[in-house]
Amino acid sequence: MKRNGEKISCLTAYDASFAALLDQVGIDVLLVGDSLGMVIQGANSTVPVTVDDMAYHCRCVAGAAQRAFIVADLPFASYAEPAQALANAARLMQQGLAQMVKLEGAKIEVVRFLVDQGVPVCGHLGLLPQSVNRLGGYRVQGRDAAQAETILREAQQLEQAGAGLLVLECVPAVLAKAISQTLAIPVIGIGAGVDCDGQVLVLYDMLNIGTGNRPRFSRNFMAGAASIEDAVVRYHQAVKAAQFPGSEHSY
Ligand code: KIV
Repeated sequence: MKRNGEKISCLTAYDASFAALLDQVGIDVLLVGDSLGMVIQGANSTVPVTVDDMAYHCRCVAGAAQRAFIVADLPFASYAEPAQALANAARLMQQGLAQMVKLEGAKIEVVRFLVDQGVPVCGHLGLLPQSVNRLGGYRVQGRDAAQAETILREAQQLEQAGAGLLVLECVPAVLAKAISQTLAIPVIGIGAGVDCDGQVLVLYDMLNIGTGNRPRFSRNFMAGAASIEDAVVRYHQAVKAAQFPGSEHSY
């Protein structure tokens, strides 16, 4: 799709009913995100989410999707070492039926090891929600030149280590564009501007439901929609036509 210039649509999914709806609408990638800690479990970060939680929700999603590609998050502290990462990735793939696992940060040796063992890996750079307690909040990353250079270099290292996909979260649009143009692998943005190869949002944010405030980079796709299905169709079409995100959703 990247080579053909077709934008990739992605949404988070955590259960069978939403997974089936998203799949039928044509969403390309379903991300079983550890954001479920916040939108399903009501925690104030993704840190409490366990591998058991992820395997359970991934199985719910994978069992209902016929065609979408399924990516599942390795949760906090579940991939500190290559062997630990492989054991937990195997659980997400064997029990959860994930087709790819996602991990946060420039864990280059872990990614290389997983890929060598046959595990497809999605990297995640920019804002790293699992590190919120170190970062001190959910803030845009890569605003200054040195930070931007680091994120670009880490993106290249992840690609060289064999990552097949990269999520970029909350970085300036100009940086995300440069990274998307530099890498051969697809870059999926969230709060990263319209020039990424695809977009992802947390499903509950774009449906304007949930316990917290909707982040600036999301849009309420329920506004003006006739149904949840219509809202998802509108998102899918807006991503494909590069009409979302707009500058008001970008940094
Ligand atoms: O867990 C999640 O939903 C994510 C997205 C924010 C990309 O990682």
